[in-house]
Amino acid sequence: MKYPIQVERTLHSRLATYDFNNVQFGPNPTDHLFSAEYRDGQWQDAAIKPFGEFSISPLALCLHYGQTVFEGMKAFRLEDGGVSIFRMDKHLLRLNRSLERMCMPAVPEELFFSALENLVAIDEGWVSGLSGNSLYLRPMVFATEARLGVMEAQEYRFMVVALPMANYYNGAVRVKVETEYTRAAKGGAGFAKCGGNYGGAFLPTRLARAAGFDQVLWTDGDTHSFIEESGTMNVMFAIGGTLITPPLNGTILDGVNRDSILTLAKARGIKTEERPISYSELEKAFENGSVVEAFGVGTAAVLTQIREIDILGKSYFPATPDDGVAATLRSDLQAIRYGRSPDIFGWNHRVALKDVYAL
Ligand code: COI
Repeated sequence: MKYPIQVERTLHSRLATYDFNNVQFGPNPTDHLFSAEYRDGQWQDAAIKPFGEFSISPLALCLHYGQTVFEGMKAFRLEDGGVSIFRMDKHLLRLNRSLERMCMPAVPEELFFSALENLVAIDEGWVSGLSGNSLYLRPMVFATEARLGVMEAQEYRFMVVALPMANYYNGAVRVKVETEYTRAAKGGAGFAKCGGNYGGAFLPTRLARAAGFDQVLWTDGDTHSFIEESGTMNVMFAIGGTLITPPLNGTILDGVNRDSILTLAKARGIKTEERPISYSELEKAFENGSVVEAFGVGTAAVLTQIREIDILGKSYFPATPDDGVAATLRSDLQAIRYGRSPDIFGWNHRVALKDVYAL
């Protein structure tokens, strides 16, 4: 099925005044957004328009019962001057899994790809070629039906906004193992990228920050002994050179960079293990003198090293060598994403920059 896109270009581009040397993630969107509506059982009214506010009813169901789902993706300026969107298919798969869990309608591949490609093409000037910069893409779906009943909505909006991005964290982070609060329980919606998973994390994160940490290291809801995620990132450890990360068991997010880093590690011949890892195992590894690296991986955070882990009040300090497993895999990932090394896994979706003019 085709989704014709109506295009309305901004008459007031902010691009010329944007300072790409001082990128602050969050408040500065590009000039345009993509929007489509789901009504009468189908997606329609696809449009690219100037970024701006829109109205929904106070009765819109997204404001009440949590039918909101989003993705986090990135577009990159390639070394040859082109622009690519990273792993669109994998993000679409995850978006639709999240939507299914929240009883929301799937976004068809053609609509998703064309929304992203055309938005990136029209806002191409916002994809900076400065080192470490990218364009963060935020697809989202939310219930717009105006009816207060506790029910699955019949009407939704699919939107994509884009924001310039540099580093999410300024350097390595300090984390605290969380043994009181739980991010997600077995059978819950932990694997879905739905808004509630993030809102529920704010209080424990605020408490960890007040104690001097950047993030929490989540543990499982049953026993609070197995490590699950770190803040908004998947977590990985390299112990004695073996890369270990918790398995996808339904409570953790199926991270796209988690998969990319595992794939790159295997390609380098690094031994990988997707298995439960307890904080006691981690403590033992530190105490018996093994070289332990720890890091978070995510779209926003890319690969962020962890320089301190607090386990029940005792601090441990992972190694952060420049030539370690984390630094090597981060550099492999960035080389592919910026087109500095061959895209051997077919992850880069090159955007046809002239397509948008044909709309
Ligand atoms: C991402 O890594 O893209 C995320 O969604 C995490 C955060 C910015 C919410």
